[in-house]
Amino acid sequence: MNETPLSTPRALARFALIGAAMLSVVGLFAYTGGWFSPTRLTQSRMIDALHAGSGLHPGFRAAHAKGMCFTGSFDSSGAAAAYSKAVVFAPGKVALTGRFALASGMPFQPDALAIPRSMALRFMAAGAAEWRTGMNNIPVFVVSTPEAFYEQLEASKPNPASGKPDPDAMKAFLSRHPETSRAFAIIQAQPPQTGFADSTFNSLNAFRFVNAAGISVPVRWGVVPMQPAVVQANSPDDDSAHPSDKNRLFDDLIAQEHEQPLRWRLVVTVGEPGDSTADSTVQWPDNRRHVDAGIVTVETLQSEDDGPCTDINFDPLVLPPGIEPSDDPLLSARSAVYSRSFTLRAGQRPEKPPSAVNPAEVTRVVKP
Ligand code: HEM
Repeated sequence: MNETPLSTPRALARFALIGAAMLSVVGLFAYTGGWFSPTRLTQSRMIDALHAGSGLHPGFRAAHAKGMCFTGSFDSSGAAAAYSKAVVFAPGKVALTGRFALASGMPFQPDALAIPRSMALRFMAAGAAEWRTGMNNIPVFVVSTPEAFYEQLEASKPNPASGKPDPDAMKAFLSRHPETSRAFAIIQAQPPQTGFADSTFNSLNAFRFVNAAGISVPVRWGVVPMQPAVVQANSPDDDSAHPSDKNRLFDDLIAQEHEQPLRWRLVVTVGEPGDSTADSTVQWPDNRRHVDAGIVTVETLQSEDDGPCTDINFDPLVLPPGIEPSDDPLLSARSAVYSRSFTLRAGQRPEKPPSAVNPAEVTRVVKP
């Protein structure tokens, strides 16, 4: 095909247009990356703040770094199907994988009851979209916005001279965020839990359930343990019960799971008009409807070095039809930061040392 050569002015005009289009694309990337506004909160800035508090640990999660995978199942009672059309809530059994972890970003930190603990779940209903959720063993979250989360990380980071956080920085943060002081008070008043197996884990963020008729309701969920307290712990707030065992909470969990599968009830709380869905520092009143959605069973524990949770990002926005995000601003921030953490740790896989806990290497026995 013959092409008509462009006259010099027309060619220049076209090059200028192409150049402008390319510049605007580059500009868009730069804007998204936060290059024009160094104070704008981005995924990378949040990850840097997490690393400033916990140190760099190649190959590990930037938060909830010390953990263990598991496989199990969910036996749906069918009771939640009236509120959500998600396939996972139809009566029947669904395969799941998950992860237990301590919330800090330090993968070799000695276990301590004061560190929040987590359970993350990935429901894999056959032929249907997945549902992933990460839950913590606290009743409310400590901040209500991503900006406050970042500020809190900055206020708690160690001072390079003393190696300790600056108490004045935390005081200043709390004076700007009374909701965090209120949340700490709620957390401290919570009944003691002695380990992973007897902990209740909560979604904290609100979501929305949508049923087959299109009716949408606000919800939060949690898993409530069906087994009693861990027998090895001498006293619920005594972290010196096993001074020589840096992994005592994980080792307790492994010992209990070797005895029998561990079970939790998945309980969905249905909110009412006026209940805050955007602020996870606020509890909903106790008299809200609780729906017993079914039983989560943890059948096998595995090391996260090569287990089924290693390459999973428990992004709270991986939701099936029938479960939708609420207006909580933490949800999209979590999704963005988890993705960045995942990309980083996946790229560092060859440098990663073995994880601190490996269920295959623990032989402690539960005493009656
Ligand atoms: C802006 C607030 C938050 C930030 C920046 C944040 C950050 C992170 C990061 C970076 C990870 C590691 C992700 C990975 O590499 O796979 C993580 C894991 C996790 N987060 Fe958050 N988080 C936030 C709020 C929350 C809230 C409100 C919850 C509520 C329950 C939560 C629960 C969890 C859980 C359970 C995990 C562990 C998942 C696993 O075991 O892999 N986070 N978080």
